Amino acid sequence: MPAPFPFADRPRLFGVAVSHYQVEGGDPCDWTEWEVAGRTRGGACGRAAGSWERYEEDALAAAALGANAFRFSVSWSRVEPRRGTFDEGALERYARFVVHLTALGLEPVVTLLHYTHPCWFHSETPWTSSASVDAFGRFARHVARALGPAARCWTVLNEPFVLVLGGFLDGQVPPGLASGRAAARAFDNLLAAHEAAASAIREVVPGAAIGVAHNMMAFAPARPRNPFDRLLASAADRFYNRPLLDAFGEGRWSAFLPPFTRFAGRRPGLPASLDFFGVNFYSRLHLRFGAGGRRIGSFDYRDATGRGLTDNGWEIVPEAFLPLLREAASIGRPLLVTENGLADAADARRAAFLEEHVAVLRKAEAEGLPVHGYLHWSLVDNFEWLDGYGPRFGLLELDLETLARRERPSAATFRRLSAEYLGRPALRP
Ligand code: BGC
Repeated sequence: MPAPFPFADRPRLFGVAVSHYQVEGGDPCDWTEWEVAGRTRGGACGRAAGSWERYEEDALAAAALGANAFRFSVSWSRVEPRRGTFDEGALERYARFVVHLTALGLEPVVTLLHYTHPCWFHSETPWTSSASVDAFGRFARHVARALGPAARCWTVLNEPFVLVLGGFLDGQVPPGLASGRAAARAFDNLLAAHEAAASAIREVVPGAAIGVAHNMMAFAPARPRNPFDRLLASAADRFYNRPLLDAFGEGRWSAFLPPFTRFAGRRPGLPASLDFFGVNFYSRLHLRFGAGGRRIGSFDYRDATGRGLTDNGWEIVPEAFLPLLREAASIGRPLLVTENGLADAADARRAAFLEEHVAVLRKAEAEGLPVHGYLHWSLVDNFEWLDGYGPRFGLLELDLETLARRERPSAATFRRLSAEYLGRPALRP
């Protein structure tokens, strides 16, 4: 069977990414409960960007930026508000959006799990139980049937390892557990759920390309010559970046986080369930050995390259992108950059950020890495999880009162880069 990705008629993707909860608004789910319980720093999601009613407008805006791909996610809580009861209206709404995207020449890139869950999920079929696998597989089948052959590119899970760390190991996000054992089990079931979803999608949509979106972080020693800081940086890379790569590359993984957390497992069928690997890249952490107490070290972001930090304090470091792409390519799958972007309300750094990160794709290609596209996070300012509406990631600025969108100046850079990357004439704004 020929590899379904990249598609013969669309060898390169250049586009934008959003996720359902962050833009749609009005979607009661586990995150809403988290907000009500006061567990976020930045308040409630509320109306978000109102995209549930404005997806068509968003698609038009993306097309006007010269994009040929649009990554979005399907809300499980909308589609299956009660366990086993599927909302045909919600499925139909996503199906209409997909038709609209394809009519505009935008490749839909569909994510099935981007951090949120239906309210019933954690009590009835939690990720720590194998019942989650059947539940997710069934949800995937319903979505695949509704969206049909027009949806041929799927990043089934967004950042499963981040979900496991945040939701099961340090309890910062739903379901808020803090147990190494629960985390290891949840990771295994998430991978099994990916496999179940991949076979459901392939059955319904022959020729679908199945991927995953992995948050890859760069790590550097805080004191470059200190051997302990260096050891810590390479251990952090192994712990944070490798397990998902190993799981999809070899069907087994093993990672250790001192003092007690071990993730290890085997899923021999997993490699065959993946057609491409998605990389979400944002920043780099600097690690320093010896924090005292039970912690073996501390970490921070710093402006080591002099570009200035983003609004939420992250380092801008395109130099770290290529090594991570090389690491991702080591599992022998085509790559897609499924997220990359920055919080920059004043739009002072976004244009240079885009230039420098897209230049890395060129370098990657020149050295033979199989990178087939770039999706910018985000199309429009959105709800940034624990930080609410503080950080502004959009190429489009959102007026939180009127929900009107307006292109930021850097949109012109995106438009030009898109035309260059896709080898087609530049659009005019
Ligand atoms: C997540 C997005 C988030 C972005 C910026 C990514 O890791 O997938 O949901 O908005 O980071 O914080």
